[in-house]
Amino acid sequence: MILDILTYPDPRLKQMSAPISEITDQVRALSQDMFETMYASNGVGLAAPQVGHFVRMIVMCPLNEKGKESHAPRALINPQLTLLGDEIVSPKEGCLSVPYNYRADIARVSRVACSALDLDGNSVDEEFVDYCAIVLQHECDHLDGKLFIDRISYLRRSLYDAKVKKCRSRKNCE
Ligand code: NI
Repeated sequence: MILDILTYPDPRLKQMSAPISEITDQVRALSQDMFETMYASNGVGLAAPQVGHFVRMIVMCPLNEKGKESHAPRALINPQLTLLGDEIVSPKEGCLSVPYNYRADIARVSRVACSALDLDGNSVDEEFVDYCAIVLQHECDHLDGKLFIDRISYLRRSLYDAKVKKCRSRKNCE
């Protein structure tokens, strides 16, 4: 089932999500719906709070520049990241929850160590690099109520907020 995606400035996107204590059929069903929703929107990652479930689960399917999968699609539960590697710029980052196709360059790191659980409750301890590392940092931010626009300069944010306000009052905008 394709779920509705919450979009900024919905205040629920600022909510901190809770750890998943037990991987039930309900959790597995939610992950399936999240995959479906992500693919339907041509996204490369989706976090549960974006679809109104404030639990710590993400799905991701990063693509390489040629549009091919660079990593198997996966669901990660209670992911914990350790930031490693160099600081890099994630060019033109976007988000399904950030409307009007807004994009910005965001400072990220090139490598992260992730410990999480998979849908069978097995531990996942893995390092991710480059684009996958960026997607993972972006999705884990959602679990802490953070969007990439919380990482841009005050000036850029003010300009974007003004645009959102204008677009919302007109009820359509691109
Ligand atoms: Ni996002």
